[in-house]
Amino acid sequence: MDEPAPAPVPFHAPWFDERELEAVRQALGVRVAGDGPFCRRVESLLAERMGAGRVLLTTSGTHALELALLALGVGEGQEVVCPSFTFVSSANAVLRVGARPVFAEIEETTLGLDPADVERRVTPRTAAILPVHYAGVAPDMEALLDLARRRSLLVIEDAAQGLAAAWRGRALGTLGDAGCLSFHETKNVTCGEGGALVVADPEIARRAEIAREKGTNRAAFFRGEVDRYTWVAEGSSYVLSDILAAVLMAQLEKLDAIQARRASVVARYRRALAGWAAERGVRLPPELPDRTPNHHIFHLMYPDERRRDEALRVLRARGIAATFHYVPLHSAPHARAMGVSAELPVTDRVAGSLLRLPLHPLLSEEDVERVVAAVRETGA
Ligand SMILES: Cc1ncc(COP(=O)(O)O)c(C=O)c1O
Repeated sequence: MDEPAPAPVPFHAPWFDERELEAVRQALGVRVAGDGPFCRRVESLLAERMGAGRVLLTTSGTHALELALLALGVGEGQEVVCPSFTFVSSANAVLRVGARPVFAEIEETTLGLDPADVERRVTPRTAAILPVHYAGVAPDMEALLDLARRRSLLVIEDAAQGLAAAWRGRALGTLGDAGCLSFHETKNVTCGEGGALVVADPEIARRAEIAREKGTNRAAFFRGEVDRYTWVAEGSSYVLSDILAAVLMAQLEKLDAIQARRASVVARYRRALAGWAAERGVRLPPELPDRTPNHHIFHLMYPDERRRDEALRVLRARGIAATFHYVPLHSAPHARAMGVSAELPVTDRVAGSLLRLPLHPLLSEEDVERVVAAVRETGA
């Protein structure tokens, strides 16, 4: 009789246990709406850990981006320069506030915004630069922050993938005027769907707090600063339920353990694949001395699209959930419809050759060995 096929190796998997269940039980007995005790605790824990002025939990990373743009007053008639090599939310948030995304090229090493190309795309309408910390690796922030200063532009970091990563010792999400985190199921720390806005300026935080609470000063009312709350500005509903904040609390309490498990998988991938990669002309993720990694993504850069696509086929046939990243936004149907497409050869090349391997805290040693063995079959 044939051996049964081994179970597939999933691409990502959240690490939940009794701790999340217990936290949810507690939240259910206290207050389930947003901005409750668990939200407050998570916000202060994150602010302290990141060295941030203020953290506001939101319903998603996408909503954190929208809230950042709203609070900073970016809107109609303005442009925001962002990469095309990113998740749709980076550009969608810009469109949602009535501004226009302008796609710029990325650097081959960090896969984040290329400052020289960003500068070429700055116009009198540019209000902000929106760098994405792909895989938790910051682009050349020194050059981007310098450009922003010289041209009086805001910097809004899409740090959806950046929790627990740093640039020159500073947490990603705290480098610009606003930073946006995601706690989506695929992220290192998750509550299913969730996000956070990180800001230093108390006035921006105040505006965000109002926009997050349907345009009311309810947060000030909860703090006892006003005797009733009312409609004070335009807003929406971006507050995270305390039930989800409870899940986040439990996840953050085990963040170091999550990170240690992810780091050990990455170390084993690097050890096992370094020789194979050098032989086949495949690039492993960069190790840069001034960037603290968070081991969010482990990607292989094949020499061309044919070898990448063949590798995806081989890995999937072996039950390994490897995947690509991304369909670049500038070539997506909606970019064409909006008239915001561009010529971005580095982005096209990167998107055509990148493959992501499974990476999560529940991968067993046997899973990692299976992934490594299958990867070694590829790249010819
Ligand atoms: C780079 C980037 N930006 C934005 C988002 C949006 O975050 P969310 O899914 O929490 O809305 C994600 C992840 O999903 C992301 O990876």
